[in-house]
Amino acid sequence: MGVTFSMIKPDAFKQGLSGRILSDIEQSGFKIVKMRVVRMSRDQAMDFYNSLSHLPFYNDLCDYMSSGPIVALVLEADDAVKRFRDLIGATDPAMAMCGTIRSKYGISKGSNAIHGSDSDLSAEREVKFFDL
Ligand code: GTP
Ligand code: MG
Repeated sequence: MGVTFSMIKPDAFKQGLSGRILSDIEQSGFKIVKMRVVRMSRDQAMDFYNSLSHLPFYNDLCDYMSSGPIVALVLEADDAVKRFRDLIGATDPAMAMCGTIRSKYGISKGSNAIHGSDSDLSAEREVKFFDL
């Protein structure tokens, strides 16, 4: 059994999409192990995404991720990291496969509804980061 970390991002939370997204996640076979609504400070967002600090959109990303509440989630399933990335789809909702969470609920490459860990190591770091 594997574990991954996810966040329902501020755009989706604000639009009242959390319930639908959680339902999609559960119907796809993931068990919600832990869940909490939190709002990241800008400093926390900068820390969470520190590996992207060299990229041109880093400032916008940190503004956006600290702009409102998120739902932080620890999810369990076989091969959780890869299966969850498949479920959320490509970073840009316009490029995400039909039926994926980002294709259904994302607005733009910046406001793309949901986060999923990209490796087991990232999942471990991200779960610890939120102290879930
Ligand atoms: P996460 O699951 O959120 O980590 O997304 P990802 O792994 O698909 O993408 P990546 O880690 O490369 O980027 C992190 C986040 O930065 C993305 O989910 C987007 O919200 C944002 N982002 C990525 N590329 C762009 C971009 O070109 N412009 C803007 N504004 N935001 C971007
Ligand atoms: Mg990423």
